[in-house]
Amino acid sequence: MSDPLTRRTVLRLTGTAAVAAAVGTATAPAAAARVREAPGTRPGAAGARVDGLLARLTLDEKISLLHGATDPAPLGQAGYVPGVPRLGIPALRLADGPAGVRVTRHATALPAPVLLASAFDPDLARRYGEVIGREGRALGQDVLLSPMVNLIRTPYAGRNFETFSEDPLLSADMVAAEIRGIQDEGLVATVKHFALNNQEKDRTSVDVRVDERTLHEVELRGFEAAVDAGTGAVMGAYNKVNGTWACENRTLLTDVLRDRWGFDGWVMTDWSAAHSTVAAIAAGLDMEMPDGTYFGAALKTAVESGEVPRDHVDRAVGRLLAVMDRFGLLDGTAPPRPDRDPAAGAAVALEVARAGATLLRNEHGTLPLTGGSVAVVGPTGALPFVSGGGSAHVVPDRADSPLDAIRARAGRAGRGARVSHALGEDLYGRALPAGSVGPSFDPEGQRVEAGRTWAYDGTLTVDDTEAGEWTIVVHYSGTTRPTVRLDGTELFPVASGWGEYFQGGFVTTAPDGLALRRRTLRLAAGAHRLTITAAGGDTGQTFRLRRSTEATRREDLDEAVRTARAADSVVLFAYEDASEGQDRTTIALPGHQERLIEAVTAANPRTTVVLNTSSATSMPWLDRTGAVLQMYYPGQQGAAATAAVLYGDCDPGGRLTQTFPADDGHHPVAGDPRRHPGVDGTEEYSEGVHTGYRWYDAQGVRPLFPFGHGLSYTTFHCGGLRTRWADGGLDVSFDVRNTGTRAGVAVPQVYVGPSPDLDLDQPVRTLAGYRRLDLRPGEARWVTVRVAARTLSSWDTARHDWALGTGRRDVWLGTSARDLLLRGSAEVRE
Ligand code: BGC
Repeated sequence: MSDPLTRRTVLRLTGTAAVAAAVGTATAPAAAARVREAPGTRPGAAGARVDGLLARLTLDEKISLLHGATDPAPLGQAGYVPGVPRLGIPALRLADGPAGVRVTRHATALPAPVLLASAFDPDLARRYGEVIGREGRALGQDVLLSPMVNLIRTPYAGRNFETFSEDPLLSADMVAAEIRGIQDEGLVATVKHFALNNQEKDRTSVDVRVDERTLHEVELRGFEAAVDAGTGAVMGAYNKVNGTWACENRTLLTDVLRDRWGFDGWVMTDWSAAHSTVAAIAAGLDMEMPDGTYFGAALKTAVESGEVPRDHVDRAVGRLLAVMDRFGLLDGTAPPRPDRDPAAGAAVALEVARAGATLLRNEHGTLPLTGGSVAVVGPTGALPFVSGGGSAHVVPDRADSPLDAIRARAGRAGRGARVSHALGEDLYGRALPAGSVGPSFDPEGQRVEAGRTWAYDGTLTVDDTEAGEWTIVVHYSGTTRPTVRLDGTELFPVASGWGEYFQGGFVTTAPDGLALRRRTLRLAAGAHRLTITAAGGDTGQTFRLRRSTEATRREDLDEAVRTARAADSVVLFAYEDASEGQDRTTIALPGHQERLIEAVTAANPRTTVVLNTSSATSMPWLDRTGAVLQMYYPGQQGAAATAAVLYGDCDPGGRLTQTFPADDGHHPVAGDPRRHPGVDGTEEYSEGVHTGYRWYDAQGVRPLFPFGHGLSYTTFHCGGLRTRWADGGLDVSFDVRNTGTRAGVAVPQVYVGPSPDLDLDQPVRTLAGYRRLDLRPGEARWVTVRVAARTLSSWDTARHDWALGTGRRDVWLGTSARDLLLRGSAEVRE
């Protein structure tokens, strides 16, 4: 690392650490023992500066630095901490999120982190981080609330797209590289959510029960890598861990984070995740966000009454100031804010989406497309599907639809390259049948003037041909949704708490920007009482009321089938619109997409299904398809990247970072509600260290697609596997040759078996290393993957430390966790 910002920082011995020692907290002696100087930092001057400030700050000023407040000049970011101008301490603006900088202004919408990780390329992760780092500073931010490194533990978790992988090593590599990239640009990174926020269901209340070994071997590895990479901040999770809220969990915040790993930045809560004042600050929490319920007036009272030692406040403020100082925010040495570079951001967004594109299936040479007519099918084929919902959503600089990108690319593919489109499924609904509402109003654009309320009490008449399943869709401008009742049932109730905010991503917005809500129900023929109340608010409101029925669905399906049949190839875009705050309840595609895929593939077997989904999907229709391309949420350049992969302008370079189960009944948390979503408020990690592919191996369950799987347009040969124990690590060498006629990407993966010397229930095999290789036709490369001792170690609960798994261990070279090409072994020694 060339930049001091990316180094693990130096803890100041004077000031807060010394004070902590005096009050006898568990932190101080261990912290003192770890203090060391990293080259290029300025511990002396920095320490003196922070101590000087601590001496001059009043208690009120200190407390104002330990919680969020309202930004007097908001830029649309998630958080704000006021500065102390009289002492030259600037305010901090803190913005989400994992796939770009989330503010009101436009930013580069990068592909979702899961797509980044699919490239198996830490260098690319660093450049991804650099884009966010530069943009964050350009957009007036100081702290980025990202990356997220919680493991993908269940395919249902609503934020799987925001994180990297089910594998601890891959996650650790990604998070470390991305943090270095972000902080290289002078933006403070925040690794989140510490720890075990691996599901969204009940995330603010669930108590996650996990044993010590599982915690260290599985979930914590990524966080430790983030600390090693020098992350400035850590965000505590909403959930409890073994009975104690993560944001006041001494084991996590002090014993592990500070004492074991030597973290010397500051810990903030997730948004409204604080639960106490005294316990939280004593356990090691430094900052409450986004307000000061516990760390504002309550903290001051607790200090004045002696319940919270002043030293705890100094310790927390000192940690924050130390990071600010390290980033040059206290002495004016922070580089000036750069301008955005949208072109450079877009180039990285495109590169990542191409590099992570994961080809799951390709039969009969379906891909790459070589010309001929193409039918694009699916609603999301004609819409830019950029990102997931919730705090990960970024306002993109631009976004094309796949249809436009495929048209543009097909134009270059030569004659006969006609591109047609069929909706297949109507996400926005059709106009209500003429005369179906009475008394009449304009369901296609009812306007309510500012300051007025509009009330309607009438009937919706359903005729025999339309009776059955209806999806009623309300489109509305403004923020207050009209209240619509049918036969007395409120169709679109306002969700409580944060529920409204997390109502899904892009399919909750109509193409003209109006917000959307859908409700599916069965309607019998006849008259139904319809009442609506809409408020014009300050600016007036326009709303529409639409519907899809069995009949309209059938029309859409028939049109898709006709369009597919008439084309040489079909590209069918399937979606699943995830957001934080909620989990999926099935891994099946939502809506009627399975039926659409069945019908279209029956009409034209040269169908490629492109998946814009958050995580694993079941594919009962798989055998009927020609190809399946997993693109997740591909960012603002996603359409261009998809078209490039479809037409073979680049090799699909991605590999699965999570196992895709065959169905809802066969995966690590299937059939056991104690594992997910939890029972009586408790969720158990009883699969132990067998997360992800390790569980499939341990249980002998066949996945739909294994971890690490992904096809290329060319072929490779691997050979010459050799292992060598040297300098406390294992070198695994082999050669890889591109045996095809196209340039392509190989991602050979090294897996290691259990140690015979450890009397533990160890995984059948674990990923120990990998390498992404771009090879020209005929090109061969000799590769050595270095496996670190840590990767060969298990957590010893007797010693509370890592134990190297010595003895003869199997070593495999594979193209996935299940496709193991070569086998060898190695003697691992102390
Ligand atoms: C999310 C965090 C996010 C924060 C601020 C929370 O709901 O869990 O990941 O950083 O909001 O937007």
